[in-house]
Amino acid sequence: MEDPIVEIYAGIGSDAPFYALVEAFYREVEEDSVLRSLYPDDLEPGKRHLVWFLIQRCGGPSHYGTERGHPKLRVRHMPFRIGAEESDAWVRHMLAALEVTPEFGPYQASLSRYFEESAAFLINKSEIPTI
Ligand code: HEM
Repeated sequence: MEDPIVEIYAGIGSDAPFYALVEAFYREVEEDSVLRSLYPDDLEPGKRHLVWFLIQRCGGPSHYGTERGHPKLRVRHMPFRIGAEESDAWVRHMLAALEVTPEFGPYQASLSRYFEESAAFLINKSEIPTI
């Protein structure tokens, strides 16, 4: 299969598990001293954008595109300094959220790989020391 991710929404069949996944992810972010400071005080708009994005990316309705346009994830993450530590923490919390959202069980492997690759691609802070 070319892109297994786009089949996921059809397999799950509704928005609710995506909302549950993002709520579980944000519960972890709220407790994370590395990540919490990158996020704004009001977490609700960001939650909504992430849910819409994931639904669209998994082949569901394209509310994200209607409301936010092209995802341009690298550009949208440029305001936040993301190094390996931030990227690893993000992935850890998303994998933990997948674990507690049973509807995603059949898609854990493909989604884990997708999140790991995307998070690595969003690293924008060089950790190579300058001499
Ligand atoms: C690498 C570690 C990552 C960090 C530290 C990070 C952090 C953030 C922060 C601080 C925001 C802004 C939230 C707000 O405005 O309330 C955001 C937005 C967002 N992130 Fe990430 N993120 C990471 C990885 C990812 C990955 C891997 C994806 C997708 C697979 C993703 C998808 C999004 C989306 C869709 C938004 C909303 C964009 C919009 O404004 O329309 N992020 N992220």
